[in-house]
Amino acid sequence: MSEATNEGEMMGEAVVAITGASGARYGVRLLEALTEAGWKTHLIVTREGALNLELECNKSPEDLANDSVILESNNNLAARSASGSARFDAYIVCPASGTTIGKIANGISDNLATRSALVAMKERRKLILVPRESPYATPHLRAMANLSEWGVVILPASPGFYNKPQSLEDMVDFIVARILDQLNIDHQLGKRWTGDEIDSQ
Ligand SMILES: Cc1cc2nc3c(=O)[nH]c(=O)nc-3n(C[C@H](O)[C@H](O)[C@H](O)COP(=O)(O)O)c2cc1C
Repeated sequence: MSEATNEGEMMGEAVVAITGASGARYGVRLLEALTEAGWKTHLIVTREGALNLELECNKSPEDLANDSVILESNNNLAARSASGSARFDAYIVCPASGTTIGKIANGISDNLATRSALVAMKERRKLILVPRESPYATPHLRAMANLSEWGVVILPASPGFYNKPQSLEDMVDFIVARILDQLNIDHQLGKRWTGDEIDSQ
């Protein structure tokens, strides 16, 4: 796996999938944060992921690609991240649709997004799913409970309000900060709880 070395060198390598749940901007901000942290990302955007990306961010998947973000086709099951022999530091589905969650929980790997997630599971690597749905359907809740028991991090797109967010960006950063915490990436996205915020005697 990639390692932290000199400044400017790659710190880590992630697979990020933007699937068809609302909240594409969480994925966009995550890519920015990973790039700022010196990580390289292989990006997968599903068809409905692209719809939401256009609707919510006025961006195409191609707009997100750059030197640090390599765009992969969701149809390409021969891409690097489809193989367990290719080692990545983390696999993140952000946002994760109920459909993609259901497929992963049932071992279905019919596209590069789901295949990469199943590779992370079979290789016992870090897999983070960021679901966005309200309310949740029982099959999705059961799927998430199973995935959690199997070591997958379920990190819902549910921003906290205790930091008194002033903008949409603050709320998005709250979730991206929790993802970066999971990856042990230092960041300045929002203040951390100190315990001094409430005087409860
Ligand atoms: C505009 C739009 C918004 C959607 N929002 C959600 C959502 O917030 N959560 C969700 O689980 N599915 C949502 N869906 C449904 C998924 O996109 C659909 O289940 C799709 O099959 C997901 O496929 P994918 O996971 O391969 O992207 C939405 C679909 C569209 C078109």
